[in-house]
Amino acid sequence: MDEGVKALFEPRSVAVVGASRHPGKIGYEILNNLIEYGFPGKIYPINPKAEEILGLKVYPRLSEVPGTVDLVVVSVPARIVPDVIDEAGKVGAKAAVVIASGFKEVGNEELEEELVKRARKHGIRVLGPNVFGIVYAPSRLNASFGPTHVIPGSVAFITQSGALGIALMGMTIVERIGVSAIISIGNKADIDDADLLEYLGEDPRTRVILIYMEGVRDGRRFMEVAKEVTKKKPVIVIKAGKTEAGARAVASHTGSLAGNVKIYSTAFRQAGVIEAMTVEEAFDWARAFSYLPRYEDGKLVLVTNGGGAGVLSTDMLVSRGVRLSPPPKSLVEKVREYLPSFASLGNPIDVTGQISSEGFVRAVMDALNNDEVGAVLAIYCQTAVTDPMLIASKLVESVDLSGGLRKPLIVTMIGGEETYWAIQRLNKARIPAYPMPERAAAAMATVINYGRYVSRVRNLRNG
Ligand code: COA
Repeated sequence: MDEGVKALFEPRSVAVVGASRHPGKIGYEILNNLIEYGFPGKIYPINPKAEEILGLKVYPRLSEVPGTVDLVVVSVPARIVPDVIDEAGKVGAKAAVVIASGFKEVGNEELEEELVKRARKHGIRVLGPNVFGIVYAPSRLNASFGPTHVIPGSVAFITQSGALGIALMGMTIVERIGVSAIISIGNKADIDDADLLEYLGEDPRTRVILIYMEGVRDGRRFMEVAKEVTKKKPVIVIKAGKTEAGARAVASHTGSLAGNVKIYSTAFRQAGVIEAMTVEEAFDWARAFSYLPRYEDGKLVLVTNGGGAGVLSTDMLVSRGVRLSPPPKSLVEKVREYLPSFASLGNPIDVTGQISSEGFVRAVMDALNNDEVGAVLAIYCQTAVTDPMLIASKLVESVDLSGGLRKPLIVTMIGGEETYWAIQRLNKARIPAYPMPERAAAAMATVINYGRYVSRVRNLRNG
């Protein structure tokens, strides 16, 4: 494990160079986040013009800090950064997060090279420049100027876009997607996706890794590392800059080369990396992976009270390579006992619009508890004879009573405001739920395809 990358995630002490006295300035907000998120180690604000900020003693320069400094967050203008790195080297820092913009992304390549040269001289690993920082929940580390209180969980999010990353950080809070890490990777002058993947691949607190990528510096190394990591946990990538105009926007944003779309897609597939086309897909899938056990084998059964939603889900599954076979006979016999005579007992099992809330949950649970079934997609359309919140609560209760999920269950709830709250209820209980059938079906297809991928590569290795 690279010591510098480790120090980025698990520093014992952090210095903020450019910690500002003024609320609203980046250096102030980073210091505030570090304190508010509860970093347990030493925090050293550095500012030659201040004596105390946010109740902490301020040091005029790094060399005057009394203890050791593992991680230095650098929030001073670009031209001063190389000198700060020299100082960081003198106090034995192992990693630096360089917030400043004004490097390669605006054509200032020399300054970026100088930064890297000095960091290498001192053995310091650099995140950035041009980043909003890093959050690592297990260390209670929020060295960023994004939202303060991200919800701890198991999704690690690496983003090459700063503002989008900060905005999505906020979204994870609203959507209650727990994160292990959020890393702004910026210009990738030193630390790149592969370095972070190596760490996160080994991190027991991270179950799924999501990357917003504009370009990759060393494609071969990224693929080599990704290939190993995807055997253990899913890696989802949103590749931006797919069109010519998009690629030009990438060049002026982070100075990366967007590259050829097809080459990226092929390489991702070969390394087992899951490519999402939209941010919505990426977060939908990350949520499913973070909540669910891995799909092993067995039939996928769809249970629905709405024929049309069942058809749409089937189309989405098939278009993503998941075929549906008839449900197990034992399941058909069981549900026949209580479903209306006109219920359709194929796959999807259409329990009909006449079914009660209890009946719907019963059918979902019967499917889930059947030994031949490997995964269940429950598709619910709001009707006057059912209550979405009752369904959500009963489902949560039944899953709890049966000892938790041992196979993937994904739910879609289509309807009015009540379904919105029911979806929140399910997600809070770690049963992934979505408001549209296609989104739930795409998430299920992704979970199944990844489960199959892992089995395939494991069988290859064992065979
Ligand atoms: N060591 C320590 N502190 C120093 C210093 C030094 N050598 N030189 C100056 N400072 C202090 C300043 O006095 C100031 O403190 P104050 O506000 O209490 O006076 C603080 O450090 C910050 O310096 P300042 O010159 O005011 O810079 P700034 O806060 O306006 O801007 C950046 C610094 C890094 C935020 C800015 O240059 C920048 O790059 N902004 C863009 C960041 C960005 O968008 N990144 C990408 C996100 S995705």
